[in-house]
Amino acid sequence: MCFKVSCRQVLSRDIREMDNNNAKYINTVINGKAISAPEDLSVIQALWHSGYPRIKSVGCLEGVCGACCVMIRRNGAPGVSMELGCQVLIEEGMQVVFLAFPTPAKQSYKLEDIKNSWEVQSKFHEIFPEAESCRHCGGCNSTCPKAIDVERAVILATKGRFREAGDLFDECVLCNLCQSACPESIAPNYVGIFSRRVTAHLHTRPSNLINRLEDLRKGELKVIF
Ligand code: SF4
Ligand code: SF4
Ligand code: FES
Repeated sequence: MCFKVSCRQVLSRDIREMDNNNAKYINTVINGKAISAPEDLSVIQALWHSGYPRIKSVGCLEGVCGACCVMIRRNGAPGVSMELGCQVLIEEGMQVVFLAFPTPAKQSYKLEDIKNSWEVQSKFHEIFPEAESCRHCGGCNSTCPKAIDVERAVILATKGRFREAGDLFDECVLCNLCQSACPESIAPNYVGIFSRRVTAHLHTRPSNLINRLEDLRKGELKVIF
């Protein structure tokens, strides 16, 4: 079972304090190392508890940055799942492997080169020619730790429905797992970014936003940092 947690909530306590608290200990294997740690710790916190160095400012610990991708096999479960190490609590017999961050996507483009909405679809296929080869295998969906319907988003984008495609990526943390899983080397998360960017680029911004920016420009609205 997967629990969504906020590491920051648990971090407000000193992890080692839990040793004196009659906490139940859980036995796991993380990156091949047997670790026994108090229950209620996330995978990352269990690593820290075992003495793994805590390096600050490299991850959000809130399930947002996508820097802590792990592959998990649960006790007795037939398969593995992809999750975020800061968002899953350790369980008895759980086996965890941290995944290396994959190579970023190679696509590059300038939004300014897309002059109007008539050109978007042809530009998309120039930039992401592999997207049309989607096999509908569902590999991207099954690896996504945010349960995004990635396959559907790719299909929508290939049909030029960029607003709908982009909306599906609202929760995307850019962990790149969908890209790693794709047998056609499609980078669905970058398809998502493209969809969101062209939607914003080619559509009128919300009037409230425009009015606020205008107020700022005129000095009628102060922003205090
Ligand atoms: S869509 Fe891809 S990059 Fe975004 S969270 Fe899901 S697996 Fe990670
Ligand atoms: S993993 Fe790739 S080929 Fe399979 S459904 Fe997702 S985008 Fe399509
Ligand atoms: S550390 Fe950012 S998602 Fe886990």
